Amino acid sequence: MILKIRPHFTLSEVARMAGVEKSELRALEERGTLPPPRRTPENHRVYDFEEARRIVGLTAPVRPRRIAIVNQKGGVGKTTTTFNLAGALARRGRKVLAIDLDPQANLTSSLGVEMKEGDPSVEELFVEEEFDARKAVRETRIPGLSCIPARPRLAGVEIKIFDAFLRETILDRKLEGIRDEYDFLLLDCPPNLSLVTVNALVACEEALVPIEAQTYSIKAISDLTNTVALIRSRLGRGVALRFLPTKIDGRLKVGQEILEAIKGGLKERVLPPIRTDANLVRAPMLRAPVGFAFPRSKGAKDYARLAEELLREPASAPQGATAGKPEAFNG
Ligand SMILES: Nc1ncnc2c1ncn2[C@@H]1O[C@H](COP(=O)(O)OP(=O)(O)OP(=O)(O)O)[C@@H](O)[C@H]1O
Ligand SMILES: [Mg+2]
Repeated sequence: MILKIRPHFTLSEVARMAGVEKSELRALEERGTLPPPRRTPENHRVYDFEEARRIVGLTAPVRPRRIAIVNQKGGVGKTTTTFNLAGALARRGRKVLAIDLDPQANLTSSLGVEMKEGDPSVEELFVEEEFDARKAVRETRIPGLSCIPARPRLAGVEIKIFDAFLRETILDRKLEGIRDEYDFLLLDCPPNLSLVTVNALVACEEALVPIEAQTYSIKAISDLTNTVALIRSRLGRGVALRFLPTKIDGRLKVGQEILEAIKGGLKERVLPPIRTDANLVRAPMLRAPVGFAFPRSKGAKDYARLAEELLREPASAPQGATAGKPEAFNG
């Protein structure tokens, strides 16, 4: 079954987006400050995505936030985070471009983007010199959320770009022309520290690192922070790392202990955790982020809280060559 997504927002949803009471918007509407709402066949008053953005005052040009979702360990929640965070941000009126950089193409299929033979994908951004990234962008069923899809043959891209000129900055250069059309770019990385992942880190100012509580490994984190430090020193690009504990079972003592250990080792860069929730496994099958598919679930609440946290204050890119390293690895 595929969940039907409403293409519009109600006045209550727009009020929540704007952080004001519904009555305040009502008053504006009566004074004619707000555009008159459309009526659905059931006579509900609704706004489309662009109208909702205008009302909430989100149309002023801002610098897009570019966030890589990265961890070379497999199965830690990268795709789950990209998918549900993208949904949570779009639900708050933000324009989001989710980019699938994994040949497994789980993000692409979760978003319900079907690929036919000849449809452009992220691979073309890497291998075709003159390719316009806009041609690979696909709309999803979620208002405000677009996607650059992947396909399995992306696995061969590493070899194709190995000898390319400035091969670490290909993606960054390709996205330059379109990124200002979005509030957020979220890049779902493959489970390795390949050239594709390095391209993602170079194209982003922030990286969000999901850490699965059960498989938390200091070695993996230190390999990742070393890569980030190299990108900083060799290419002069700073990436602010933040860590996101995932699959936390708050009821179990061990879950709490692992969370404390992660926080202790990584200091302030730890984001509010995502708890274990089976709805996060179900939502991709409905082709809808958890906030749309199961709005009252733990998963929906946790990803909403993460979106709020990211909207509250942008992470600033670190300055020094060793910046981005957790305190525990600096000495
Ligand atoms: N908080 C959670 N609660 C329950 N299940 C989760 C949670 N987060 C992720 N999962 C499940 O764990 C599995 C791995 O998650 P996901 O695919 O997001 O990881 P990944 O890091 O993208 O993996 P890969 O490295 O293979 O790309 C999936 O089946 C997903 O549904
Ligand atoms: Mg994945």
